[in-house]
Amino acid sequence: ARITLRQLLDHAAENSYGVPAFNINNMEQGLAIMEAAAACDAPVILQASRGARSYAGDIMLSKMMDALAEMYPQIPLCVHQDHGNDEATCLSAIRHGFTSVMMDGSLEADAKTPADYDYNVAITARVAKMAHAVGASVEGELGVLGSLETGQGEAEDGHGAEGTLSHDQLLTDPDQAVDFVAATQVDALAIACGTSHGAYKFTRKPDGDILAMHVIEAIHAKLPGTHLVMHGSSSVPQELQDVINKYGGQMPQTYGVPVEEIERGIRHGVRKVNIDTDCRMAITGQFRKIAAENPTEFDPRKFLKPSMDAMRVLCRDRFERFGTAGNA
Ligand code: G3H
Ligand code: 13P
Ligand code: NA
Ligand code: ZN
Repeated sequence: ARITLRQLLDHAAENSYGVPAFNINNMEQGLAIMEAAAACDAPVILQASRGARSYAGDIMLSKMMDALAEMYPQIPLCVHQDHGNDEATCLSAIRHGFTSVMMDGSLEADAKTPADYDYNVAITARVAKMAHAVGASVEGELGVLGSLETGQGEAEDGHGAEGTLSHDQLLTDPDQAVDFVAATQVDALAIACGTSHGAYKFTRKPDGDILAMHVIEAIHAKLPGTHLVMHGSSSVPQELQDVINKYGGQMPQTYGVPVEEIERGIRHGVRKVNIDTDCRMAITGQFRKIAAENPTEFDPRKFLKPSMDAMRVLCRDRFERFGTAGNA
């Protein structure tokens, strides 16, 4: 059954677990996630970016969400807009059946310029008021994702923002977070703690200097009742890098967010954990493997079935490790 982000994360907080929010663009990703969830009785957040909506089309995407909900009636399902950048994006998502939206006002509507605080508060509060009026939930974001190693801030399209940002901009300020939540009435708050989108997050296994989990603990101490969201939470597993590179890929060595760090976050108020890159890599690894080992193959299903299987294994692991399993 369809539920809101607020309903799901309230349950997660009461029962001390986190929920992975997987990005989807197509049927195969949707099936992989739902199969994994059904196998371990986990509630699900399916999220679609603006890019996903233009890739699949709003009608295809929303009917696909309907189909997945109908196939798995026992699984609580939240359908969420990832990184909405303005009122139109958020409201049109709700109109297409999404039960939750992210109004990411941490960047200006061009999604490249770090926004000032007053802009972020004003647009997020406006979206929250409208979404709440029709029973949908809202996630806001305070702080700009980016690398503490390089000081490079990140535009939410995954491409580098202009210039170099200070740690003040790259790490969410706990006192400002208190003010932001009160002023906007968001149901969940995305914070910046040194993670970034995509595969290239860290040049080494992260320690506290470059992955600031202590910032999450400080925010949670001041906002114990607020559901926190971690973006850029792919772990970029070595074995997925290895499969891709074994079969013709050329991904430079990189490091993601260790799952044990996410587990630490979940002990300190993190309830929604955004994962896209790991799923993409699971799919691409199998795609490359089949292509390399079976050069005469041309049936897409022969590529996509093993890809789905690999993504399902990845999703199941996250449901288990975040404590989501058993809570459907
Ligand atoms: O926010 C980033 C997510 O990974 C979605 O990526 O905009 O390429 O669909 P996308
Ligand atoms: P990853 O690129 O680490 O998977 O992050 C996804 C995300 O934050 C989507 O909003
Ligand atoms: Na941001
Ligand atoms: Zn994100």
